[in-house]
Amino acid sequence: MIQKKANIAVFISGRGTNLKALILSSKKQNCNYNIALVVSNKKNAKGLKIAKKNKISTKIISQSFLKTEQKRLAKILVNKNIKFICLAGFMKILSPYFLNFFKNKIINIHPSLLPKYKGLNTHYRALKAKEKFSGCTIHYVSKKLDSGKIIAKKKVKIFKKDTSKKLERRVLKEENKLYPLVLEKLIRS
Ligand code: GAR
Repeated sequence: MIQKKANIAVFISGRGTNLKALILSSKKQNCNYNIALVVSNKKNAKGLKIAKKNKISTKIISQSFLKTEQKRLAKILVNKNIKFICLAGFMKILSPYFLNFFKNKIINIHPSLLPKYKGLNTHYRALKAKEKFSGCTIHYVSKKLDSGKIIAKKKVKIFKKDTSKKLERRVLKEENKLYPLVLEKLIRS
């Protein structure tokens, strides 16, 4: 029997390398998910081009993203039978209404070993604190920033000559590998 693939929505704000990694992986024969919608709060996000190139529907939300708009988007996601919402560089805080509506269905990737370095400039802060390792974390999204239950982490070694840029590049490479693997595993479980 052919198993139906789970529909996924990816929320972005920018570049979209994690989106691209999720799309590439979704095209593999045995992958258990399909990207059904890409949502962006920035109309010029580079990731939107990646979505369009791959013929994936896109939706732009406004900066204010007030309750009526949230309700409209929630309805679209329900109609598309979305199983998980993956935040991939989505730089907007979701409201308690939206989080409750999709309880345990929204996950995020963050470029640090949480609970260390929540928020922005994670690589710079890890280097400044002379950490030996940094990395990335995938977690459920909760009301507090970068604080929901941790699902998976990947460590990345920090070298003496590292700069934020170099570290970012190496961590991002691991993010792009980790996100598709973790998503597939979550769907299977
Ligand atoms: C990624 O490094 C992701 O971990 C980070 O934004 C970048 C998006 O890159 N997310 C956060 O900092 C969320 N707190 P991408 O657009 O190339 O996927």
